[in-house]
Amino acid sequence: MNDAILKSLNLSGQIALVTGASSGLGAHFATVLAQAGATVVAAARRIDRLKSLVSDITAAGGTAIAVAMDVNDNDSVVAAFDQIQTSVGAVSILVNNAGVADPGRFVDSTEEKWDFTVDTNLKAVWRVSREASARMIKADVAGSIINISSILGLQPSANNTLYATAKAGVIQLTKNSAQELWRHNIRVNAICPGYFETEINSDFFKSEKGAQYLNKIPPRRLGQMNELTMPLLMLASAAGSFVTGIALPVDGGHLVQSL
Ligand SMILES: NC(=O)c1ccc[n+]([C@@H]2O[C@H](COP(=O)([O-])OP(=O)(O)OC[C@H]3O[C@@H](n4cnc5c(N)ncnc54)[C@H](OP(=O)(O)O)[C@@H]3O)[C@@H](O)[C@H]2O)c1
Repeated sequence: MNDAILKSLNLSGQIALVTGASSGLGAHFATVLAQAGATVVAAARRIDRLKSLVSDITAAGGTAIAVAMDVNDNDSVVAAFDQIQTSVGAVSILVNNAGVADPGRFVDSTEEKWDFTVDTNLKAVWRVSREASARMIKADVAGSIINISSILGLQPSANNTLYATAKAGVIQLTKNSAQELWRHNIRVNAICPGYFETEINSDFFKSEKGAQYLNKIPPRRLGQMNELTMPLLMLASAAGSFVTGIALPVDGGHLVQSL
C-alpha cells in the first residue's frame, strides 16, 4: 500500500480514550487504536477486565493503560481525566462507546428504565465529551470524538423506544457539538452500528427468535468486529480530516431493507 495512505491512518503520538472498553465493541476499538499506534486509555467500571485487555495490547507491542471510570458519575469522569493527564497527557481521540440496553414495551417503560437507559447512552456521552473537549481546547490539541450511536438512532424498532431515543439524541449531540467544535480543530462524528454479537445482545441472538430475526434482515448475519475497524480508524485519523458531523451506519444494508 502507498505510504501516504498508511501514514494518514497512523495514530502515533495520539492519546485515545475508549469508554466501555471492558467488553464488546469497546475492547475491539481499544485494540485497533493501539494497533494504529495510539496510546490507549481503556476505561470502564470493571477494572479487572480492563487490566486483562491492557496486558493483551501490551503483549502485542501496543501501549495502553486502564482507568476506572463510571460515565454516569461526574466526579469519576473528572478524576479519570486528571489521572490520564498525569500519566499520559491530554486525550486527543475520544470514543464514547459505553452503553446499556434494557429492551421492553413502550407502555411498560418506567422512570427507572428511562434513567438507566438514557443516562448512560446519552447524558454520559454529553458529560464525557464536554470534559474531553474543554481539555483539548485548553491544551490546544486537535481532536476527534467518535460517538457510538446505533442504527436504532436512525430508525425505530419495536421494544426499543428508550434506547433508540437516546441513540437518536447522540446523533443530534454529535452534529451540534461538531458545529461548535470545528473552530477548535475538534471533529465529532457518530458510528451507527447494525447488529454485532456482544454481551449487550448475545442472549437474544442465541435464541430462536434472534436467528429468525437475522434471517429476515438484508445482511442475513451479524456484523464482524473487523468490519468496524476501518470506519473507526478513518474517523479517528487524518484519513478523516475533512469529515465532521456525520452519523455513519455500519450495518450491512440493514437500514436500506425494502419496505
Ligand atoms: N453490539 C451491537 O450490536 C451494537 C449495535 C449498535 C450499537 N451498539 C453500541 O455499542 C456500544 C458498545 O456495546 P457492546 O455491544 O459492546 O456492549 P457490551 O459488551 O455490553 O459493553 C458495554 C460496555 O459499556 C460499559 N459501561 C456500561 N455502563 C457504564 C458506566 N456507567 N460507566 C462506564 N462504562 C459503562 C461496560 O463496562 P463496565 O460494565 O465494565 O463499566 C461495557 O464495557 C454501546 O454504546 C452500544 O449501545 C452496539
